[in-house]
Amino acid sequence: MLTEKNSQINSPDNFKEEIDLLRSEIRHHDYMYYVLDAPEISDREYDDLFRKLERFENQYPEFRSPDSPTQRIGGEAIEKFGQMTHAIPMLSLANIFDSGELIDFDTRVRKLLGTSTLIPYVLEPKLDGIAIELIYRDGILITGGTRGDGTTGEDVTPNIKTIKAIPLGLRSRGPLSDIGLIEVRGEIFMTRSAFDSLNKERDELGLPAFANPRNAAAGSIRQLDPNVTAQRRLRFYAHGVGRIERGGVSTQMELLNALNDLGIPSNVEHARLCIGLEEALIHYNTLAEIRNSLPFEIDGTVIKVNLLEWQDQLGAKSRSPRWAVAYKFAPVQAETRIIRIEVGVGRTGALTPVAIMEPVNVGGVKISRATLHNQDEIDRKDVREGDVVIIQRAGDVIPEVVKVKTELRSPVSHPYEIPNHCPVCGSEAVRLKGQAAKRCVNSSCPARLKETIKHFSSRAAMDIEGLGDKLVEQLVDKGLIKDPADIYYMDVDSLLSLDRMAEKSATNLINSIRKSKSATMDRFLFSLGIPLVGETVARLLVQSFGDMDSIRAKSAAELQEIPGIGPEVAQSVVTFFSEPRNIYMIDRLVSAGVSPGFPVDHNHGESYPLKRKIFVFTGSISLARNEAKRIAVRAGGVVANSVTKKTDYVVVGSDPGSKLDKARELGVKAITESEFKDMVGGLSE
Ligand code: IVH
Repeated sequence: MLTEKNSQINSPDNFKEEIDLLRSEIRHHDYMYYVLDAPEISDREYDDLFRKLERFENQYPEFRSPDSPTQRIGGEAIEKFGQMTHAIPMLSLANIFDSGELIDFDTRVRKLLGTSTLIPYVLEPKLDGIAIELIYRDGILITGGTRGDGTTGEDVTPNIKTIKAIPLGLRSRGPLSDIGLIEVRGEIFMTRSAFDSLNKERDELGLPAFANPRNAAAGSIRQLDPNVTAQRRLRFYAHGVGRIERGGVSTQMELLNALNDLGIPSNVEHARLCIGLEEALIHYNTLAEIRNSLPFEIDGTVIKVNLLEWQDQLGAKSRSPRWAVAYKFAPVQAETRIIRIEVGVGRTGALTPVAIMEPVNVGGVKISRATLHNQDEIDRKDVREGDVVIIQRAGDVIPEVVKVKTELRSPVSHPYEIPNHCPVCGSEAVRLKGQAAKRCVNSSCPARLKETIKHFSSRAAMDIEGLGDKLVEQLVDKGLIKDPADIYYMDVDSLLSLDRMAEKSATNLINSIRKSKSATMDRFLFSLGIPLVGETVARLLVQSFGDMDSIRAKSAAELQEIPGIGPEVAQSVVTFFSEPRNIYMIDRLVSAGVSPGFPVDHNHGESYPLKRKIFVFTGSISLARNEAKRIAVRAGGVVANSVTKKTDYVVVGSDPGSKLDKARELGVKAITESEFKDMVGGLSE
């Protein structure tokens, strides 16, 4: 233990030694606390050690080091996050909900491995947090980033470095000691108690509460100011690795332990090796029983094949591995009373009934609103104002009413009917044949407009920083914005007429509006809010046809040639572009300087070698068909099912079918699988 006495010996060398000692002492306590969950000293004593180290490092800046525990300080705010490319894609997990599906999973695993023996599985709690990857090189934390779309996430290194549970430098112990490169994957989360105290603080400051610990953790990581992240008591548990020089580790269980040896927390305490299905089911039930007593929220268990070699052999589908599944817990339920039913108006004018309830705690989260979907749902469940109801919450989804306790119902209650008038603008609300929702008929209803603008400026769309919900409401109420294009015709002066808008924030907002003009084409298309055109469809359309003008010129039949675009989507796109006011709005957006570029963020920033070329596959090829399609799409190509004049290439495998004849007839170029691979270059790996 370090004493003040030897810290007073005044030679730099001695200080260096002391600093090293202090650092290793602090790291030891971090390890005891975060990894072993067995602290040896009080928070106070820990803080004293920490402050002493800071003092010494300030006195002798030459001994500062990037892996010193003091380097967790927040420092400067970041302008914008950079991108982080995952060398090996970060996959998601397939969800299962009952034991039947677990049996199917186990059967599939055994079939693929060609074994009839019991499979050793590791069961881990499924933490409800945010997935990140940490890259350590020669024991030093270099980069930390979010999962993003699995291939590219956001580089949030300065924020990650403030999280005490994440070591800046690795210990050199266990089978992975002295490893050169290791990419650690895991979950950043917040304990229930950290979440509660954060929300209490926010309440005192008049800030809106976070809905659940997951949102709070996500919001804390995606902060541009690392000082804010530093204050949010975030935790981390590793659950896997990306690239790694595997050393002596051959199972998932060994991996979790080896990560602990390096000083990286993993939830070994609740992970269990289960031999075969039955043991797995028993541990699943145990976790379900203890979940509410755990200090953090979990929403299920993750069941993983223990042998890493078998994991490799089983491989992955496009989005999730074949060697693991998430077995979700049944949703959590609670009883409460509906105070009244309110009706909201969405972007498409749909009136959505929402139950406003007496607040109730559901699995650790306070709930006071639940969606009632539409009139048919209300009728089916016979939900009325004043009813006592059972509500449930499953993970991230909006809470909903499961059933009404009709036996407790007041004798004077009456069935609820969604009004025939828009609660916002008073126009008529009608329900068209074949539709579930009643809709406000007024296309310039302020409620609809507000939702349209909120969608337009949201993060996944044009990403206009600073144009939040409250501001949108003011802008619409004051008549400054009548459609999304108006955003680009505002200036600092017009913004200054708003409540609580200072010159600086007005200038910042105008700047971020200007910045959004160069959003990518797929985001631009998505931002228009065309019914049924989500992010994926928007990307597909842009990859297939390039720019807005070409998409606008397509017929429903032409749109449907793209796999993944069905008749409803195609019709919705055509309808949108046949509406003169939409065309007028797009023209005004373009005249204001909105000039979206081709998206580049979906294949490692490389170009699109197959840009807009249409491919058809025929015969059997060595790649799985889905895999081949995925590669083509990632490289910017389009895969169609049948050969037409527009087809650019037919990729011919062995035993080609009639598609090859058709290609010859139409003069479409036929290529081999290896020619196809040459065209996509590195993207085929
Ligand atoms: S394994 C390819 N283990 O759940 C394997 N994931 O729904 C993927 N998660 O993105 C990860 N706890 O962020 C794994 N013990 C655990 C987990 C876990 C939570 C998250 C993870 C993943 C998501 C998939």
